[in-house]
Amino acid sequence: MTVSSNLIINNSNPFEGEVSIPGDKSITHRAIMISSLCNGKINISNALASDDCEHTINVFRELGVNIEIKEHMISVTGKGLTSLKKPNKKLYAGNSGTLMRIIAGILATQDFTSSISGDKSLNTRPMKRIEDPLKMFGANIISKNSMPPLSFKPSKSLKPISYASNLPSAQVKSCLIFAALFIDGASVITEKIKTRDHTERLLEYLEYPISIEDNAINIFGKKSFKCKDIVIPSDISSAAFFIVAALIRKDSKLVLKNIGINKLRIGLIEILIEMGANISVFNKSVICNESVADIEVQYSELKPINISGEKISRLIDELPILFIACAVCNGISEFHDIGELRFKESDRIKSMEEGLNVLGIKTSSTTNSLKIFGGSFNGGIVNSNNDHRVAMSFIVAGAISKKPITVLNTQNISTSFPNFKNTINGIGAEVYEV
Ligand code: S3P
Repeated sequence: MTVSSNLIINNSNPFEGEVSIPGDKSITHRAIMISSLCNGKINISNALASDDCEHTINVFRELGVNIEIKEHMISVTGKGLTSLKKPNKKLYAGNSGTLMRIIAGILATQDFTSSISGDKSLNTRPMKRIEDPLKMFGANIISKNSMPPLSFKPSKSLKPISYASNLPSAQVKSCLIFAALFIDGASVITEKIKTRDHTERLLEYLEYPISIEDNAINIFGKKSFKCKDIVIPSDISSAAFFIVAALIRKDSKLVLKNIGINKLRIGLIEILIEMGANISVFNKSVICNESVADIEVQYSELKPINISGEKISRLIDELPILFIACAVCNGISEFHDIGELRFKESDRIKSMEEGLNVLGIKTSSTTNSLKIFGGSFNGGIVNSNNDHRVAMSFIVAGAISKKPITVLNTQNISTSFPNFKNTINGIGAEVYEV
């Protein structure tokens, strides 16, 4: 999948119509991983076809799992929990922190050696957060100064653990849940702040013995799954760009269908409604243990916001596009407790701040916070720093900018939303490759 490395947005008509949003990235990764551990064939429909998910497919093929792809349907034929094979080569996670961190739980508990690396950006992202608890399980894991590549050796002293995570991270939690699947006995993973629970929901859906009491997840190792087909909701984190686009471009009205509205992922919608957004969520249903709905959004005058604490983890990936919405509000918006943004695909506080400043928006920041002084976008050249969500955020800004916005290094849009340019052009924008 290739997306051009630089994009320019010249202008945009009001956004109108229905937008087709691709499948959820977090759930697609997990569905491929869990199906690979089942004994039988599972068809995964509305799966995200993107670079990140392709890396997950390639890694499990290397581990001996039969995976076929037909457009947005992935068919995974696994041979059971203990059937993974030693890979013939070093595994590669590309740009995907989710793949690298979650699969570490699986690789650390196998009876073969393996290693996994990532691209330039992923190879600088912190892994201590998974390394420390995996070592508590008795795993043999070696990193390069707590960064990738990661190597794993078989361990004879694996034991179930009770682990309380202070860091709100669904990747860390899921890594440990996956590790617990391979260890005899009951492990308990507790999170201080609840994070997206797609792993837990998929395990429940496939009838794996797992029980959840408040913030504690109890997992029993070495049990089996029931093979059932999986339908993936469309990704709220990708929908977010179109929700904000319609809110800030006068006279817009968009409908987004079949969007995942897991209650630990809808922080953006809650905050935008608090800011005065005209958003309605309807046709709610539950598919494969995940809530989905249609969303209608119309242009609205937004008020600035001040957010911190537990709310942050429910909109962590949507912060870049929320910054764009706040940049054109009349007043000052404040974001606290957002230090984790510095460890994403780029340092997202820095990338967004630099881009906003180029466009004429004043900001100030600390390691853990950002203040945005609302104004209007002048246009200019911004660098996405190879970060897909930063790139798409600045393209959306271009829809209401006085002059065109050029976004550099946009190729990583293909990690989560390969068809983004055509999708936004299809509803009124003028985005070109440069
Ligand atoms: C994800 C969890 C979040 C999120 C990432 C996807 C997941 O990361 O930012 O894009 O699928 O578990 P953290 O666990 O680091 O917060």
